[in-house]
Amino acid sequence: MKDQQINLPYFDVLLTLLDSGHPEIDLAFGRHVHWGYWSNPEQALNTPEDFSKAAEQLSCEVYSAANVKNGQSVLDVGCGFGGTIASLNEQFLGMNLVGLNIDERQLEKARKKVVPQNGNTLRFEQGNACALPFPDQSFDVVLAVECIFHFPDRQQFFQEAFRVLKPGGHLSLSDFVPIAWFLPFMRLFNSKSSNPGFYGNFDLQYTAKRYRKLAAKTGFEQLLERNITVNTLPTYKFLWTLKQDFKLEDFSAFSQTSIIALISQLELLRYMIFSFLKK
Ligand SMILES: C[S@@+](CC[C@H](N)C(=O)[O-])C[C@H]1O[C@@H](n2cnc3c(N)ncnc32)[C@H](O)[C@@H]1O
Repeated sequence: MKDQQINLPYFDVLLTLLDSGHPEIDLAFGRHVHWGYWSNPEQALNTPEDFSKAAEQLSCEVYSAANVKNGQSVLDVGCGFGGTIASLNEQFLGMNLVGLNIDERQLEKARKKVVPQNGNTLRFEQGNACALPFPDQSFDVVLAVECIFHFPDRQQFFQEAFRVLKPGGHLSLSDFVPIAWFLPFMRLFNSKSSNPGFYGNFDLQYTAKRYRKLAAKTGFEQLLERNITVNTLPTYKFLWTLKQDFKLEDFSAFSQTSIIALISQLELLRYMIFSFLKK
């Protein structure tokens, strides 16, 4: 996909900040670009160090749900700057690790940062989550950490994940999931226009029930549906601190993040981890 078709303003801002050398931004978002997970949210410290540990933990929570083991082939779809691949590379031995992203600029950073260790092989490839450039049955695990809401079509992604997984393989992902009665209000917030805001095109209309149906339709058995909203909430306080420290005045960044923060605090939008098995 050509660069002009990629519209992710938050990554444009992030890449500019990272390239101008801000250590706090590098610590917070130079590895993972997702929310944090705090086992004890009341003990969150609201510092870049603490946030980076929480972001690392969120990746661990998602790949633990896929039952990752030494010696496996793992595909991380929408891999950002390669943080989840980096974490797997540090924690496991003899792995075949592949990160896929639509945005070549992020992949360039990932290739520079993540060096194989522990007898692992790794590579980062450009491509679309809904047309995976890999043969059938080539992975034990497929991951999609906090990115499925950007993909053009969840069903196509599930079909592709099913195709590239070996029998017995796991798909594990995290997503923002509205509760059923709030869905009509989410429709107002969804962004699929020629001029989307700070977070680009996204679709936050997939309820837990729709995930269950999608799994059944595409041949997966659902193994896990875990609500971790409360563990992610300190993320918002940290984002407000960054906004003030870096004088980030973009109105759509502020308004979109405020809405997500509010409806997450009210548990109308849940942060969830799902895991599925290809039998
Ligand atoms: C919120 S970031 C998460 C990045 C990474 N998973 C992480 O947790 O650090 C969303 C990612 O999805 C990627 N993305 C968006 N649409 C995509 C698509 N159609 N195919 C592959 N990756 C995509 C973006 O480029 C970005 O890296």
